[in-house]
Amino acid sequence: MNGKDAQGVAPEAPAAAPRRVGAPVRMQGPQARHGTLKDLSRPGRGAWSFPALDVPEAPVPAEHARQDRPGIPEVAERDLVSHYTRLSQLNYGVDTGVYPLGSCSMKYNPKIAETVQALPGFQRLHPRQPDHTTQGALELLWRLERALCEITGMSRATLQPPAGACGELTGLLVMRAFHTKAGDPRKKIAIPDSAHGTNPASVRLAGYEALHIPSDGRGLVDLSALEKLVDEDVAGLMLTNPNTLGLFEEEIEAVTEVIHRVGGLVYYDGANLNAILGRCRPGDMGFDIVHINTHKTFATPHGGGGPGAGPVGVIEGLVPLLPYPRVEHDEGTGEFRLESDYPDSIGRMHGFLGNFGVLVRAYAYVFLHGREGLKEVAERSVLNANYLARRVKEKFPLAYPDGPPMHEFVATARLLKEETGIRAMDVAKRVIDLGYHPSTVYFPLVVEEAMMVEPTETESRETLDALADALLRAHQEAHEDPHLLHEAPVTTPVRRLDEARAARHLKLTW
Ligand SMILES: Cc1ncc(COP(=O)(O)O)c(C=O)c1O
Repeated sequence: MNGKDAQGVAPEAPAAAPRRVGAPVRMQGPQARHGTLKDLSRPGRGAWSFPALDVPEAPVPAEHARQDRPGIPEVAERDLVSHYTRLSQLNYGVDTGVYPLGSCSMKYNPKIAETVQALPGFQRLHPRQPDHTTQGALELLWRLERALCEITGMSRATLQPPAGACGELTGLLVMRAFHTKAGDPRKKIAIPDSAHGTNPASVRLAGYEALHIPSDGRGLVDLSALEKLVDEDVAGLMLTNPNTLGLFEEEIEAVTEVIHRVGGLVYYDGANLNAILGRCRPGDMGFDIVHINTHKTFATPHGGGGPGAGPVGVIEGLVPLLPYPRVEHDEGTGEFRLESDYPDSIGRMHGFLGNFGVLVRAYAYVFLHGREGLKEVAERSVLNANYLARRVKEKFPLAYPDGPPMHEFVATARLLKEETGIRAMDVAKRVIDLGYHPSTVYFPLVVEEAMMVEPTETESRETLDALADALLRAHQEAHEDPHLLHEAPVTTPVRRLDEARAARHLKLTW
């Protein structure tokens, strides 16, 4: 009976904590429905209907038959739909409004890309179909690869990695294979302290040691420190550009030169490519390997670590090392085929060709925008970030004000904390009560009371103004009514969560 009384009445939802300020949470539907699906379960209910059997019934052999019923909630379709619709309404997503989570590029995903990936010709494909029956899909992947190579200035790319971090690992394994093949396995990868957090993690996973490179006073790679720290045991360097301070690395060519001089390879963390699309290319700056986050750059859906796509492009000399299978194109016959016979390949990074549905969405985004449209994406993402930064920087100063921010900016609530005791986290929680998703806070680690804001190119000026007003209002309230910020959020189903505990003590089953 799943913990319910004989009548199957679901228990009352636990009394909510007293809410002292702000608007009450609007709970829709009968209170009794506010449990889990298991609470809604009643024996015998179901949300399925099958046509009558048109073949003789055959018993399942005893050794294969279950001994008890599966612990699946038994619910009617009506309750199921209410349940998930209600849950979706409690959540804040990219379809709800601006989601300025710096470093994550949570931007609106155009619905046309959903429509395209849902075409029956794509939906009904099976990855084991013979090539001659999947020419359209293979051509799409080939064209996407060519477009990504053109955008990044690389020779070939693999579309297999299911997320940016997996792209990083792929690139590092390519580096490892390159040095091993040359009989010169090396131990270290140089990582500037303004790199994305996944970079040092990928370095460890690939069996390297991370060599930390400090930033200078402007928030850029400290070139003289780099020159001193790098030696011939350095296999390569990973550079996030624009870096996680939202700044364009001004001395990129000098940085790549230092690494090439000692025989290392240079990796471009291109997750922030939406800031430079169509304006400049990592390949032209001297990089050897680039990864792209299709969710950040081409607005495909993103789940933490996947399913997504983190394609990796490489220069000509590294092509033999890329994962297999790859799509090859015979220009003579016009045919496309899947090829797996590459003796120097690092192997597979994902089953088949990666997350095909995500790649179709990325294709739709790239080709619907076209060359000029993609350039405009970059221009708008930078314009929007700069507009918002200007609106709030008097109250939340930029952490590194010397250079103009690119597609995101890092402000600090350090002064506010000194004046009022209100911290970046309190501002973030208050912004939720004011109707917005907050920015990233406390990242990057090199900035005290960091607020990392990325409005993205998809937001209008009205939205940016409204978000700026909310941030400025929270700042004013911190001085006039700090209680509001200490208590926030009060309009959400749950209040402040112990995020560190949630991350350290994962509870993955109910
Ligand atoms: C600069 C940068 N590098 C790497 C990643 C990792 O990408 P993913 O979350 O797809 O693994 C991100 C995440 O968004 C990022 O912002």
